[in-house]
Amino acid sequence: MCTFSSISLIFLLAIFKFDGLHSADTTIWGPGLDPLIVLPARYFYVQYDQEKFNIADFNVLISGKTKNGNNCRVWTNILDRKDASFIVRYKLYEICYEFRILVENKKTLKKYWNYFDQGPIYPDECDCSKVSIDTWLSNTKCRTNIEQINNDLNQFKNVNFQTVFGKMAKFYSQHPHSTSVCHYVVKNNLIFRKCYGEYTGFKMFMDNLLLSLNRKVFLPDLEFFVNLGDWPLSSPKELFPLFSWCGSNYSVDIVMPTYDITESALENMGRVTLDMLSVQGNIEKPWSQKIEKGFWMGRDSSKHRLNLVELSKKNSDILNASITNFFFYKELKEKYGPGKKPISFFKFFDVLLQLLIILTI
Ligand SMILES: *[C@@H]1O[C@H](CO)[C@@H](O)[C@H](O)[C@H]1NC(C)=O
Ligand SMILES: *[C@@H]1O[C@H](CO)[C@@H](O)[C@H](O)[C@H]1NC(C)=O
Repeated sequence: MCTFSSISLIFLLAIFKFDGLHSADTTIWGPGLDPLIVLPARYFYVQYDQEKFNIADFNVLISGKTKNGNNCRVWTNILDRKDASFIVRYKLYEICYEFRILVENKKTLKKYWNYFDQGPIYPDECDCSKVSIDTWLSNTKCRTNIEQINNDLNQFKNVNFQTVFGKMAKFYSQHPHSTSVCHYVVKNNLIFRKCYGEYTGFKMFMDNLLLSLNRKVFLPDLEFFVNLGDWPLSSPKELFPLFSWCGSNYSVDIVMPTYDITESALENMGRVTLDMLSVQGNIEKPWSQKIEKGFWMGRDSSKHRLNLVELSKKNSDILNASITNFFFYKELKEKYGPGKKPISFFKFFDVLLQLLIILTI
């Protein structure tokens, strides 16, 4: 059981509780205030009294020196959330010393946050400073008690771990065209895997997560299976412990954050530009001005999506759903079309409610 509680904690890396500064007119909080917490992109929030200030009144400076005393390469990005708060995120490209985080008010010259650390402060890519998993969990202040993951894991109290992995390998290699799972072993902080199935490209997402972790943490020895598909695969009858990006009431897959969420954390301020932080800084409408409807847009990959479009045509006052490309149901284009031109992801958030329909054919 130890194996599974550790890994479940690891997956929750994106969820932080963090104490910052709370003053009468400004609050600052977030894991990026402590650069000893190594993240691909470090970030923190600044919230201010909008009666007194606006975002332009704040000066944010993040800097450091290299070993040779030159300025350290730090990319800082400010995201205005348009609700009297903004996100500061920054990415390091090299090891920095004399590291400084300054948040001050240009009007009042008050310094709200003035952090200094002699360093070294490490970039995420650096395979150079590892701490124990317990130290790391405690430093990052990850939430440890999450009902869904607790419930998912609680189903596996009576599993015989001596034999179950062998049975799973056998079972999941039976249908290579419809199932893709990987067996991961972490041993001495090295990562090994064997995958079963024809289409296992998505293993890169799990690999990247583990490789980011083992650069900064001594991972405990672990063994587990991951489902790479978009359909739960563990039945209550067999009770195979299987980590998945999806679940249902009729399966016992242990649901973890999906690959695009972990990818957007790992590639934040990098290859990925649509992520949980950037979206907050690119929303045009404040909450009070959002269109009070449900919104959905996407391709025709399931009948349920066509049904939603039909519902939307009948109830356009509460629902705006449309298909962009007809690929699977070309013959139904007349009825459910015409295909709409895709819009920017950020425009989705002009509308109050986002609908997700991810059933595949
Ligand atoms: C799944 O279970 C939850 C909680 O028991 C219940 O609220 C929900 O209606 C169920 N969904 C389906 C589709 O059966
Ligand atoms: C639905 O949303 C699209 C994309 O934003 C927009 O062009 C269209 O006018 C909306 N339709 C209705 C009925 O509001």
